[in-house]
Amino acid sequence: MKPLLHVLAGHASARPPIWLMRQAGRYLPEYRALRAKAKGFIDLCMTPEFAIEVTLQPVRRFGMDGAILFADILLIPYALGQKLDFVAGEGPRLEPIRDAAGLAKLSDERPAQTLAPVMATIRGVRAALPADVTLIGFAGAPWTVATYMIEGQGKTDYENCRRMMWSEPKLFAALIDRLVAATSAYLIAQADAGAEALKLFDSLAGAVPATLFDMAVIQPTARIVKAVKARHPNIPIIGLPRGAGAQVGRYAAGTGVDAVGIDHMTDIAAAAASLPRGVAAQGNLDPMLLMVGGAPMEAEARRIVESMRGRPHVFNLGHGVLQHTPPDHVARLVDVVHGR
Ligand code: CP3
Repeated sequence: MKPLLHVLAGHASARPPIWLMRQAGRYLPEYRALRAKAKGFIDLCMTPEFAIEVTLQPVRRFGMDGAILFADILLIPYALGQKLDFVAGEGPRLEPIRDAAGLAKLSDERPAQTLAPVMATIRGVRAALPADVTLIGFAGAPWTVATYMIEGQGKTDYENCRRMMWSEPKLFAALIDRLVAATSAYLIAQADAGAEALKLFDSLAGAVPATLFDMAVIQPTARIVKAVKARHPNIPIIGLPRGAGAQVGRYAAGTGVDAVGIDHMTDIAAAAASLPRGVAAQGNLDPMLLMVGGAPMEAEARRIVESMRGRPHVFNLGHGVLQHTPPDHVARLVDVVHGR
């Protein structure tokens, strides 16, 4: 079995497999060169020839155990017909949905057609990938995608989302239902096309009021896991409830995911001890240490590996690679985790 799939199946390994969130991206000169050829970020994601190459770049350069599909969590709102722009230096901008009329503008007709290029990318990557490397497909979890759809941008206090959850629970639930359906279909299509593991990014799970955590985070994720497993019973699913803190055990038990991404604000060994038996933990080096490099990075990476010895552990960061990270530090990290 491929090293990453072995651990995701719940087995400990002598050295953890490694891949990194945002391992493809602007810190790599070969990414920047290809990015300059695309008309924009969405074009980069939607042109299989580009997306295949960008997915493979970090695997080729660093010998990662996992390749993460090059795409974005905001392709689902885009495919549902919401206006989306990536503004240079500012991040994504969407036309916000704040009421029933906004929700009614979304279309369930086009997603499969719009997202067909992503499936072509998956087939192309699978054909080119080294035999021991695992292709990870992904989507955003409903809550995190909903925050972008409602706020129209990232990095906010989620005031419109929290107002809607408390004051118009039916409207919020209707949006979540649309996302559960579209995301389940999207992930099933990714698995059909050849994705070997799937990841649900709930990057903003930490912004949910504790009382609503079950409704907004656990239940929608559980419904997607159930729908995907009904079609692909053996595909491992990794959940990332970033910022969920002490709720990770409840998250894993309630959603049925096979592995949980642990952020760098949480002690990974303590979090792993709270997971149901056989659920793997993924993480959790502070991305800033990858930027810093050298002895502090190496010591912390070794500490994380040692603290997880004997348990199913996928080495990763607590969040994505930062933009100004030196690629040489990434190469060194992979060597350290691989025991060199
Ligand atoms: O290497 C990989 O991880 C594969 C591809 C990937 C991207 N985004 C590429 C990307 C993945 C898995 C994502 C997930 C994603 N996208 C998340 C969840 C993970 C997380 O980071 O919390 C979120 C919240 C998004 C939404 C998003 N996309 C934002 C907020 C931004 C702008 C921020 C930025 O770095 O500019 C993006 C754009 C984006 N997605 C880029 C990349 C490589 C940069 C785009 C560019 O080249 O201009």
